[in-house]
Amino acid sequence: MNYAFDTRCIHGEGHKTPDGNNAICYPIYQTASFSHLTPGHNLNGFDYTRESNPTRSYLEETVSSLEHAVDTVAFSSGMAAISTVFELFSPGAHILLGEDLYGGVVRLLEQVGKKNGIDFEYVDTTDPEVLKKAIRPDTKAVYFETPTNPTMRVTDISLTAKMAHDVGAFLIVDNTFMTPYFQNPILEGADIVVHSGTKYLSGHNDTVCGFVCSATKELAERFRLLSKTTGATLSPFDSFLCQRGLKTLALRMEKHRSNALAVKAWLESKKQVKDVYYAGSGMISFTVESAEQAVKILQNVKLITFAESLGGTESLLTYPTVQTHPDVPAAQKEKLGITDKLLRLSVGIETPNDIIADLEQAFDA
Ligand SMILES: Cc1ncc(COP(=O)(O)O)c(C=O)c1O
Repeated sequence: MNYAFDTRCIHGEGHKTPDGNNAICYPIYQTASFSHLTPGHNLNGFDYTRESNPTRSYLEETVSSLEHAVDTVAFSSGMAAISTVFELFSPGAHILLGEDLYGGVVRLLEQVGKKNGIDFEYVDTTDPEVLKKAIRPDTKAVYFETPTNPTMRVTDISLTAKMAHDVGAFLIVDNTFMTPYFQNPILEGADIVVHSGTKYLSGHNDTVCGFVCSATKELAERFRLLSKTTGATLSPFDSFLCQRGLKTLALRMEKHRSNALAVKAWLESKKQVKDVYYAGSGMISFTVESAEQAVKILQNVKLITFAESLGGTESLLTYPTVQTHPDVPAAQKEKLGITDKLLRLSVGIETPNDIIADLEQAFDA
């Protein structure tokens, strides 16, 4: 089928519910196991829910359709998805990491990757010259977020894909911030796309989930084996919630973006705001004059919630230095501008004037 993006959010590639009851919405198959027909033969290939489940498969097919992936595996969190991606590599593997990553990924590499012998190196992927010098003939992968979290720096995906492929390395892109609505890394040459599906894909701040999307059949097979073996796959109920959220992804992303542009214009007009970082989507970071002022704003917002996470219907304000990036070494945080004056706003889909009025009263409190 050649459906448009917003149609695929609702119908995927045109899949229908196979339950025989003509349900419009795909049911939650809340079962751990499935009966066998004959030894080694199951109806529709379902055997045991850790390995596969119809509700999860339905969601995975929708995400594959949106990301132009050969296959997608849904995990119980973004970090479960990302941890499984690093299971591809053996001790000694050289991996280049974008230097501005979600703090949990830095913690994963520092606390677990190092122990497992991964030879990782942070590099400014936004600068092709720097990347060119850092990439080695034995580099196995380049991994980054674009735009970055929280300082919104952008890497050229197709150029980086070419550089990675020249040495036979995989390109892995975290597409959480842009979502497939604004950016399709696989179409630009990425081999693997990861998501914290907790964010825009689910979109309602009520589910934790993650995805690994593969550009090739070979990678897809490896992730199927890894996910059934390590076992952090998504539950049927959470799969249902994410599928339900996905139906409105296109609508929500338009509203997140238009709200963010309105909030950005207001922030840029405030003399207490020093820098505003915005690269599309619904995410804005900004700096204020002092740490005291940043904390005052966090403690005085009323409609906006002072909380970690992003990408949901509700606007959330986060203090990256303490909440999302505490495990990033201090020198690295300083270099990247993740200071005690930096705030990150996930602009929700409320009326923009209500969000701005709330910021106004928190600034003036
Ligand atoms: C860009 C990005 N990637 C990955 C993750 C990890 O996802 P999760 O919290 O669903 O485990 C996050 C979490 O905030 C994130 O912001």
